[in-house]
Parts: sequence; C-alpha cells; structure tokens
Amino acid sequence: MHRPIKKIVFPVAGLGTRFLPATKAIPKEMLPVLDKPLIQYAVEEAIEAGIEEIILVTGRNKQVMEDHFDHAYELEKILQEKGKEGALDVARSMLLEEGRIVYVRQMRPLGLGHAIWCARHLVNGDAFAVALPDDLIKGRPGTLKQMVDAYNETGGNMVATMDVAREDTSKYGVITPGAKSGNLVEVKGLVEKPHPADAPSTSAVVGRYILQPEVMEILSKTKAGAGGEIQLTDAMAQLIGKQPFHALSFEGKRFDCGSKMGWLMANLAMATEDPQLAPRLSSHLKELSQR
Ligand code: UTP
Repeated sequence: MHRPIKKIVFPVAGLGTRFLPATKAIPKEMLPVLDKPLIQYAVEEAIEAGIEEIILVTGRNKQVMEDHFDHAYELEKILQEKGKEGALDVARSMLLEEGRIVYVRQMRPLGLGHAIWCARHLVNGDAFAVALPDDLIKGRPGTLKQMVDAYNETGGNMVATMDVAREDTSKYGVITPGAKSGNLVEVKGLVEKPHPADAPSTSAVVGRYILQPEVMEILSKTKAGAGGEIQLTDAMAQLIGKQPFHALSFEGKRFDCGSKMGWLMANLAMATEDPQLAPRLSSHLKELSQR
C-alpha cells in the first residue's frame, strides 16, 4: 500500500513579475481565464483527484485568495433579493467545508522549493501533491487525477512532463529518462533549466508533482540554485535512486498562464469551446487577421 494522496500544496507566493503591472496589487493566481481565476481551476482539479486538504502557501498581497474561498455576504444577499439564483450558485460554488483550505505564509520569496518547505508542518509526514496554478492544463480527466491514479500503482515521487523544443529546455526542469511503461517513464536524473546543448532530454517538468514527505528534510538543507532560488528540482533530484520516481506524460494541453502569450492562448482555447462566445470570437479573429 502506498501512502494516500489526500493533501496538496499550492505555492502561490511568487511575485509574478512577468505579468506586471497586472500583478502589482492582484495575485497572479487571481488572473481570470474567461470568468474563473487560475487558483479556482487548480482547486477544482485537486478536488476531482480526490484530494481533501488544500494548503496555500501565500505571501503579502495575497489575502484576496482567502476571500475568494469564503462567503461574500453582501453580494449573496443582494443576489438573493434580486432572485438571481444562477449567479448566487456561481458565487457560492467554491465554498468548501470549513478547515479544508488552510493558509501558511512564505515571508520571503526565496523560491519554489522554499515555498513548499514552508508547508512542512501541515504536510506533517504525509505524501502530498503540488500544483502551480499558473500552469493551467486542459484535460479530461485533469492531470492531478491522471497522476494520482498512476501513483496508486507506482508509489514514490512523480512529475508531470511534456515534450518541448530543445531550444526551450532552459525554461524548465528536464528529466533523464529511464525505462518506459505506457505513459510512465522512470526518472534517472533531474536538472533545472539546462542549456539546450546540455539538456539530458526534451522531456520537461510542468507544474504538477506528487512527493513523498522525505523531500521536506532535503529542502531544509537545500542551498539556493538556479536564479539564486531554493529549487524544488534540486531537492527532488536527491530522491532519485532512494525512492521510486516516475514521470507521467500527461494527456492534456498546458498553458503557461504566468506569461502573457500562454494566458492569451488559454483564454482563446476556453472561449472557442464556449457556445455563447465561439461564433462571435471566430468572426472577430478573422477580421483581425485580415487587417
Ligand atoms: P514562477 O517561476 O512562475 O515565479 O514561480 P513567479 O514569481 O510566480 O512569477 P515571475 O516569474 O516573476 O513572473 C513558480 C511557482 O512558484 C511559486 C509561484 O507563486 C508559482 O506558483 N513561488 C515562486 C512561490 O510560492 N514562492 C517563491 O518564492 C517563488
């Protein structure tokens, strides 16, 4: 029996500098794709995967995320009085049972690895998932569910990977692949942001992970790596060979919503699937392309 995955850590304390000035006062995770903030897509994906406890590692200026998962009494009262039942249901759709979402502060933005480590007392010896909400992945089932299902067979640690162009390896963590079995491959090595000439493969890690709690002990000793930040990749690399470690080539389309292009593409992808929006959007896009 493998340790069950009932907890997830969302590191949401980053500064979002690529999306300034939008992210000066608004957390990147609250940027909407169509009408839903990124953090909501991520929490819905976690719930679909059967995860019960949601841990948000927040920072300064991130309180609005707590409000998003709480009652908005005034709004709800007005919608009720006006008989706007549909809007009321939407406003109440993310009210999870009290205590299911917990928050911890990362006081200094020292990197993704450090943000995960800030959740160590809440993870408290359990295996756990990690998701970066700015990596929005459209897929059915969601990537976390695909990973939890695969993990229930393999145990150990797992990253979600996709194939990227060689010139892009310097933007990702990259794996050294071992034996393959279906859409799972053994991870033999992991390196953060390698130069294309040095990259061990073009299999890049995206923002979904399943980790064993031993990673916390390693993180507590991990020194700053690439970009002067405490890198999760460096800590994960130390688990290779000690615990099972797999990469899942997930089914779905990933959008890097921390970048303007990725965010735009995610909006377009969602909008073209919306019967209310798709016809007008496509004629508008045609018009634009003819200019
Ligand atoms: P990014 O590399 O996207 O950094 O972080 P960022 O600060 O959010 O955005 P840019 O690059 O400045 O535009 C990847 C994930 O790790 C979290 C971020 O919130 C994001 O989910 N993170 C990063 C932290 O929680 N703390 C950190 O110190 C750094």
